[in-house]
Amino acid sequence: MTTTSVWHGTAPPTQWPALDEDLQVDVAVVGGGITGVTTALLLARTGKRVALLEARRVGSADTGGSTGNLYATVSGGVHALREKWGAEVAREVVASRADTVDFIEQLATQAARDAAAFRRCGMYVYAGSAEAEAQVHSEYEAVIEAGLYAQLIDMLPPGPPAAHGKVLRIDRQAQFHPMSYVQALAEQLVASGGRLFEHSAALEVNTSTNQVRTERGSVTAAEIVLATHSPSGFHLVQAGMVPHREYGIAGPAPGGAFPPGIFWAQGPERLSVRSLDTPQGPLLICVGEDHKVGQHDAPEALASLAAAARRRVQLSEVAFQWSAQNFQSPDNLPYIGKDTSGCYIATGFATDGLVYGTLAARIIAAQILGREHRWSDLYKATRFTPVKSARTFGEETVAVVKVVVQDYLTRRQHEELASLQPGHAAIVDLQGERLAAYRDLQGELSVVSPVCTHLKCMVHWNPVETSWDCPCHGSRFAPDGSVLQGPAIEPLKRKQVTA
Ligand SMILES: Cc1cc2nc3c(=O)[nH]c(=O)nc-3n(C[C@H](O)[C@H](O)[C@H](O)COP(=O)(O)OP(=O)(O)OC[C@H]3O[C@@H](n4cnc5c(N)ncnc54)[C@H](O)[C@@H]3O)c2cc1C
Ligand code: FES
Repeated sequence: MTTTSVWHGTAPPTQWPALDEDLQVDVAVVGGGITGVTTALLLARTGKRVALLEARRVGSADTGGSTGNLYATVSGGVHALREKWGAEVAREVVASRADTVDFIEQLATQAARDAAAFRRCGMYVYAGSAEAEAQVHSEYEAVIEAGLYAQLIDMLPPGPPAAHGKVLRIDRQAQFHPMSYVQALAEQLVASGGRLFEHSAALEVNTSTNQVRTERGSVTAAEIVLATHSPSGFHLVQAGMVPHREYGIAGPAPGGAFPPGIFWAQGPERLSVRSLDTPQGPLLICVGEDHKVGQHDAPEALASLAAAARRRVQLSEVAFQWSAQNFQSPDNLPYIGKDTSGCYIATGFATDGLVYGTLAARIIAAQILGREHRWSDLYKATRFTPVKSARTFGEETVAVVKVVVQDYLTRRQHEELASLQPGHAAIVDLQGERLAAYRDLQGELSVVSPVCTHLKCMVHWNPVETSWDCPCHGSRFAPDGSVLQGPAIEPLKRKQVTA
């Protein structure tokens, strides 16, 4: 199956060089999503010597797999945040996010607003089924208490399906084209004197020598920022974070129109819908089907999303389909700042990371410049919150342990190597050794060790993305074993097998 996000499909590819020298700079930023590019730009503008290393292309991972919505609330609900942390923290979270949406607007304007397709719009939170009506009312009360201007209105603008009960409308939220935005910021980074390298995966981050090594070069820096979504290597925060994959599809808007806005249906069939204007006419984007990495049937999730979009917003033609990853912290707040590794990290954004990633860039840039930031304590990477994390941490640890035990004790997906059909993958036993095998459509076989190089869980096949995904902390690998997504840095071990 081939997947391309609507953002990849509607933005020109970037072409920055790969690193092939040894550099000495003030700050090395690893990862060219919204977090890394914004951090690097903010620092380069102050005169810091900055080098950004991106494993693939700028924006190509989760930033380019998002929905491109910018809002002051959070996808898990401000009411849930208030329940866990209290009203004061909920208010600060909303204030930090609203301020960051304004900040993104400023950056988008400087970077040519048209290119980033930034637009202010309303956000509509509504019940997709009767049982979610109460949730909409709780969210209304919580966002008002958190300081946002919001209303309960009788109906949605024409376009989305009818809502059950009242609709929560929050004004002055925003949308943009996330790929075009980070590409525009990347150009500004280079114009401000920063160095930017694509196809330059960090293969080693040495915190004793403060050096990041790539295949053909290295960067030595006073400070290292791991803006790789889940921070590369081993970090305490990974113990409690849950990696999820969520799915997206896009196609021509039915009837050639759809109102601007962020439309979030609450309830058992959660669906996020928005439109995107293109020269060929408006596209409708639908995102949903959130599942734990490596613990679900990916083709089934994509098919369910397509069925829901057909039924609920009459999206009949799918031009783009994709999935992307998010990481949820056990206490529902992101981790931002220096952790015990000595590097700066920014993770645990759930599906709210376009705003949180930009906020992380602001906090980390301020900290590197030796300044206090109003929100650095709220999101501190080294915080310890056993009570607030306990339930999620316990449930998730049990779920992961169950998968690991099953993987090691059962003969999952057992198949004979010789009978593996083109386009298929399986865990096979060969002369007593368990191997992960994939035969491509041309019949070529790739065989690798199924043992994840991060902390040794077993990878699972993802037929939608043609990748081996690790259920423990979300690392993803190509069929040849190379790393597609961290925290793993080392590839899966390749095996020479003929069949
Ligand atoms: C389906 C979906 C929809 C979403 N929609 C929204 C939304 O509407 N609004 C919102 O605010 N948030 C949304 N999110 C969340 C948001 O997309 C992410 O939180 C955000 O993009 C994270 O940005 P990032 O820069 O931290 O990570 P990424 O964009 O993943 O960037 C990390 C980069 O690091 C690179 N990298 C990794 N390892 C290495 C290495 N070893 N060396 C060099 N480079 C490396 C990767 O290639 C990647 O480009 C959504 C998430 C999902 C899954
Ligand atoms: S990602 Fe941690 S063990 Fe695989």
